[in-house]
Amino acid sequence: MADIDTLLARRAKLLGAKAPLFYDRPLHIVRGEGVWLYDADGRRYLDAYNNVPVVGHCHPEVVDALARQAATLNVHTRYLHETILDYGERLVAKFDASLSMVMFVCTGSEANDQALRIARTHTGKQGMVVTNLTYHGNTTAVDAVSPLFYGRDVINPEVRSIPYPDRYRAPPGLEGRALTDHYLAALERAIASLEESGVGFAGLLLCSIFANEGLPDVPADFMPRALELTHRAGGLFIADEVQAGFGRTGRMWGHEIMGVVPDIVTLGKPMGNGHPIAAVVTRAELLEEFRERVFFFNTFAGNPVSCAVAAKVLDILERDRLMENAKRVGDHLRAGLARLAAKHAIIGDVRGQGLWVGIELVGDRVAKTPAASEAQRVVNEMKARGVLMGRIGEFDNVLKIRPPLPIGTAEADFLLDTLDGVLAAL
Ligand SMILES: Cc1ncc(COP(=O)(O)O)c(C=O)c1O
Repeated sequence: MADIDTLLARRAKLLGAKAPLFYDRPLHIVRGEGVWLYDADGRRYLDAYNNVPVVGHCHPEVVDALARQAATLNVHTRYLHETILDYGERLVAKFDASLSMVMFVCTGSEANDQALRIARTHTGKQGMVVTNLTYHGNTTAVDAVSPLFYGRDVINPEVRSIPYPDRYRAPPGLEGRALTDHYLAALERAIASLEESGVGFAGLLLCSIFANEGLPDVPADFMPRALELTHRAGGLFIADEVQAGFGRTGRMWGHEIMGVVPDIVTLGKPMGNGHPIAAVVTRAELLEEFRERVFFFNTFAGNPVSCAVAAKVLDILERDRLMENAKRVGDHLRAGLARLAAKHAIIGDVRGQGLWVGIELVGDRVAKTPAASEAQRVVNEMKARGVLMGRIGEFDNVLKIRPPLPIGTAEADFLLDTLDGVLAAL
């Protein structure tokens, strides 16, 4: 087995020195099973990071469904096939009745790209509003609505960014309805600016749980009021469920928790448990209008293998009650973290829903000084002790936990004990 330095050198030469990698000392993973990953030395790690393998790494039934369909037929969707219809009908049935049609793609970026096209085709306008710390993907159009890696301001005549809503780091003195008013005023200004510039307002694109923004604690009335404002201004509301979807929050979709029915929803990551399948779900009139005016075909999207895989993921989610498990184990984790917060002053805030957990580390609980270098040390030290997690947020000081959904309380306790030890040794 090649050593890590040899792999790093080959990788840098081939993919570029800046091709992203995790950890100060990157991991060489060779096998996965359930919630566990194994490195080349046979060491196992609890995977508390990866949201894609939603039913667990290398789930044997998913592998079997993939292999069987791959051995029977794989072809694009310009022939008739039941699998796409069976799966698609099952999928849209999991949404509000108004969201009755689906368009398949292969990645979350493509899903958002098509969502932008649908919104722009429908409204005849180009302008989009997003948050100042979001990421929605990597196509040219979607990159323009993804300021996360470019600093805080979008430099694009067709895009305006607004501050992401956050109760923990809210402007001093603002709470309740006044806090939401504050965030919505920024949305109003952004819409007005797009209209005044002549670009016009096509829609608002938000991740349902603001995952890339650091999973902030969002005022409960923010989303419903943002949706109302968007509609009043003639725009469409797009919910990016690429991270939030498929049960992770304890509900099937993050927008259910946020109390809205979007016009367009985009799906990806966990949909195929690692197999590249993604989708746009929307209202019939929006998709029919789009199909009427734009020719859309995607060679790989919705093929029988992808749909067989995605259908098996739904089977397992339902049969094994993984949404309930996400809620139960997520609550268990947050309760344990609250106990750790009583011991470790560096824990400034614990938040999230289901198996989406954010832990904000601060140097001082009153001043809320971000403890970014400590967060980096914690992530690396957790890895050294056999637990994988990430970090995110405006100041890179929020520990990010989002394990495969079959995680049990015993594994959650292992995470908590390990974190307790790592924080004590900081
Ligand atoms: C919220 C969100 N939307 C979209 C994407 C893009 O998905 P993909 O990498 O499959 O293109 C990502 C990827 O991280 C994401 O976090």
